[in-house]
This record gives sequence, structure tokens and C-alpha cells, in this order.
Amino acid sequence: MCGIFAVSGEETKAGEMVLRGLKKLEYRGYDSWGVAVRTETSGSIDIAKEVGKISSVKRTFSASSESMGHTRWATHGGVTKSNAHPHKVGRVTIVHNGIFENYEAWKKKLVGTHHGASVKFKSETDTEVIAGMMSEQITRLRDNEITSKKISEIIRKVCAEIQGRFAILVMVEGVPGIFAARRGSPLIIGRGEKETFIASDIPAFLERTNVVNYLDDDELVYISGGKAEFSNLRTGERVKKRNVTVKWRVEEAEKGEFPHFMIKEIFEQKDTIARAINHEDKMLVKAAKLLHSANGAYFVACGTAHKVAMAAEYFFSEVAGRKINVVPASEMPSFEKFVNKKTVIIAVSQSGETADVLEILERGKKRGAKILALTNVESSSIARMANVHLPIHAGPEKAVASTKAATAQMALLFLLAFADSNQINFGRFVLRSTAASINDLLNPRYEDRIRRVAKRIIKHDNLFIIGRGSLYPMALESAIKIQEVSYIHAQGFAAGELKHGPIALIEKGTPCLVLGDDQETVSNATELKARGAFIIGVSPTKQSVFDEWLRVPDCNGAQAIATIIPVQILAYHLAVLRGLDPDMPRNLAKSVTVK
Ligand code: M6R
Repeated sequence: MCGIFAVSGEETKAGEMVLRGLKKLEYRGYDSWGVAVRTETSGSIDIAKEVGKISSVKRTFSASSESMGHTRWATHGGVTKSNAHPHKVGRVTIVHNGIFENYEAWKKKLVGTHHGASVKFKSETDTEVIAGMMSEQITRLRDNEITSKKISEIIRKVCAEIQGRFAILVMVEGVPGIFAARRGSPLIIGRGEKETFIASDIPAFLERTNVVNYLDDDELVYISGGKAEFSNLRTGERVKKRNVTVKWRVEEAEKGEFPHFMIKEIFEQKDTIARAINHEDKMLVKAAKLLHSANGAYFVACGTAHKVAMAAEYFFSEVAGRKINVVPASEMPSFEKFVNKKTVIIAVSQSGETADVLEILERGKKRGAKILALTNVESSSIARMANVHLPIHAGPEKAVASTKAATAQMALLFLLAFADSNQINFGRFVLRSTAASINDLLNPRYEDRIRRVAKRIIKHDNLFIIGRGSLYPMALESAIKIQEVSYIHAQGFAAGELKHGPIALIEKGTPCLVLGDDQETVSNATELKARGAFIIGVSPTKQSVFDEWLRVPDCNGAQAIATIIPVQILAYHLAVLRGLDPDMPRNLAKSVTVK
């Protein structure tokens, strides 16, 4: 969940460069930050760290050609300066993403055994214990034995003791260069001409290079200046890596003229829906064949991606007559007994790094299941685990709230349902016209209209959403969007479930979003209105029961895709009107790489 960035090269302002790169990774965690620099003059490693967001930080560092830094999303220990990374013990400085599950036992072992003197841990973090373990090993060596080769060995030894997923970066006083290792958390190496970068995501160094190496699980890299040496983290054997040129453009990862990434990404849906379905038929057929071969299929996903999967359950049922089970990844352990070599697990994940999903895939693979994955990051762990991977091509999504990735996932899954029933061309036709009408819809006037609706309901603390069919998962997704960025208590229901309990919550003036204009849903809206609700309809046609109406195009079976868009805009404006930062909501981070 944290952001990691490092540079080693000819640059003498490495600290400033790391600070700039970290600002681009802030979406990964933003409760505190820290930067370590190897000072040119003395070779010592100096650390600056603070609580708070890094975006507004302006500062300079000592001249240096090597630096690494971190933006934190707290796991072990509160949000304090001493818990912020980097952590330094003896000669070792480290930044870390992930969780060291068995750190407490190691912490106990280290206190009192650190070469005769106890390690005085200054933080509550698991990370500092890793630094302590490495430092303890280094203190056993004579000065002339402390080489990059020896440090790699120590890192291998210590990593062998760590239970859990991690990505770590290590700098050691007296040994030039930066070491990095991963198991389950992303790290990408950027290959500049005279410098080498390590980051948890490409935007950190994209302005300098688009040539990358992907570090795989259980690999270690040692970078120094323009060179990078890769080895296996378990065996120490050298590993050869392929240089990959990524197609991301710098502007895609920047806000441009938009005030926030969230609204930029909502507007990008003008293109992304059409881009998502731009797959060769043969890939879709391959994915469909995998489904045909299955005896039992499960969607596993979290959060918004899970709501997308729920919508896809309807698509597959309606279009292909296929029942696919949908389970939140964290709940899947209860159903794993049904997973075997005839099962297909369909993972839906924007980041491709979500820990709950990864764990189910790892365990499913051991039981012989096949994996079909839809992700937005082709190099992600989930993509690389899959037997068939369908990228959604949405481009970098930086706002914590998932918008363009969700609609791209839905479009691709809708098309896959058509591929499953041998009607790819018809599916494409429906989606192309959906994309075209969304393109027409998304304009400043439409946004203004929604902003006015947001103003009418901004004072309310509760908001309810109803939908039917594939719009039921969109009611749940609407609730996530509104909750996470505006902090308004929002809850979604299946329209038909209202009378079975939730209608008791309606009071005079309670805002209710009604997704759809089918007869039954409209009559549910009438029941809500009879109890005093303020009805905002989101639908192709205006109904007399609506107090406000947000028009969406009529998109046939793909209605879920169009219907969520005005709700995304509404959530955004509710947040902005409440003076909140929709890109970085409290307590959340973009990529949930810990369980
Ligand atoms: O990267 P993933 O799609 O696997 O992430 C899953 C959820 O964490 C994510 O969708 C989350 O719910 C979003 N913040 C919702 O907008």
C-alpha cells in the first residue's frame, strides 16, 4: 500500500528527485513520508521524515547521487514521525511495503543479542526489525568484509525468515548502491541512461525513462549508477532480465487541466470504454474457451472490482446463460473446498496487486484451478499468475476511487459474455454505441447539472440507492463511491428488498438515488416518496416521481456501465463541496497489498 522510490546515478540532487517521484506515488499511501540520502561528502546516510502528505513538501537535501524514500499507509504502529520510513539500525537503512507477519518473535530475539548490546528500537514498526536483523549480521563482519556481495547474502538470509508479502529497499553505510527485494509486492526497475530507478509504480520515474525491468517474486536487484544486477532471492543465482518499453505517456499520469485525478479519470471514460474492448478476437475466444472447459467458475475480487464482478454475473446469465459464482476475495476461503482442477477463477483487479485476491489465486493454483484475470497493470502479480490475462487498457488510475477502471472492466466482461455465446461482433456493436453515447454525455454542462444536484443534498448524513438486475450491483458500487470520497453514509439495496427492512430508514427529505426506470423500480421509488424521500432518478427516461433526474443513455444490456458514471460525478462533487480531497480520502490507499 505504500509508495517506494529510489535512484542511483550521476545526479547530485538525488534527494530532491526522490521527493518529486514520491509525490507521484502519493496515491499509494499518504499518512507520512521519508527520504534517505547518501551524502556526497561523508558517505553517511541522512534521513528526513515527517507526518502528513508529501504533496505540499518543499525542501532540499545534501548533495547526493543515491537516495530512496517512502510514502506510508500505516499498518504496524500509529501515524507518527518515528514510525515513518526509512528506518535505520546501525549501518542499515530500509524502506518497506508489506507486512512482516512474524516480526514480534524476531524483535524479542534481537533485543539483547545485537552483538552483545541490545537494539534500541525507536518505532513500533515491523520494518525496523528487518533493519535490526540485517544490522545484527553486519556487526559480525570485519570492515573489509562488508561488500555488496556480502550484503546481498545477508538480505537473502533475512528475507528467508520473513513470513508475509513484502518489497524492501536497503542502503548500507560504506557500501555504495541500493538493494531491493520483493515477495508479493510490486517493484519496477527504471533504466535511465546514467541512472537507475526502483519504484513501486512507473509514474515515479516516467519523466526520465520508459524502459523498465519487472522484478519478480523472490528476486533481488542491486543498482549502482547505470547498472542493475539481478539475482534469485532464495539461491543467489544470477537472473537475466528483459528490457521492456512501456507505452504510458507522462500526461496520462498527470492531472493536466483538471483539479483532481478523480474527475480527470471520470472524463477519460470518453475513451477508455472503447479502448477496453479493443482486443483481438482470438484473446477473447481463448478466455471463452477456458470458461467452456470449466466445471464451476468463481469471480473473486474486492471493493469496486467485486461490484463489477457482480454486474458481470448478470451479463453472463443474460447473454451466455452461464452462472458464475461471485465471492469477495476475503470470503473465498469458505468455498475453497469446491475449487479443483476443473474450476476457473476469474480475478478482477485494477491494480493486479490486491493481497486478498492474490492469496486466493495462489491457493487455487495449488488445487489445480485455472486463472483468468482482468487487470489494468499488465506487469502486475495477478496478471502474471493468470493462464489467460485480459488487460483493460484504462491507463494509470491514480485517484483512490476506482472509476474508469470499473467501467472498462465491465465493458470487457460484457464482451466476454458475448464471446462465451459466440456473438463477439454483436457485443462489440452494443458496446461501441454505449461508448459513443457516453462520449456525448460527458461534457461540462452535464457535470454542472450534477454539481447542482449535489448542492441540494450536501447537508444530509444518510443517502440510499436502489437498483434492480445489473443495476443492483451498481447501487452497491454507488454507495462505495459516495462513502469513500464524501464520507456521507450511503447504502445500496436491491430495489425489491426495500420493503423487507431498509424502508424503515426513510425520513422526510432523505435523498434516495433510484437507478433505472423500469416499472417495478419506479413503483419502488413511489413507495420511497410516499415516506418523504427526495428522489433522484438516474435513467434514460424522466419519471414524474423523480424530484431530480440525471439522464443516462439507453444502452441495452450494458446499462450498468452508463448508469454508474453520473453517480461517480455526484460522489466527486459531494466531496469537493464538503471541502475534502477526493483523490486521497482518509484511511484509504489505492492498492491494498496487505491483508
Ligand atoms: O486494485 P483492485 O481493483 O484489486 O482494488 C480493489 C479495491 O480495493 C478497490 O476497488 C477499492 O474498493 C476502491 N477504492 C473503490 O473505489
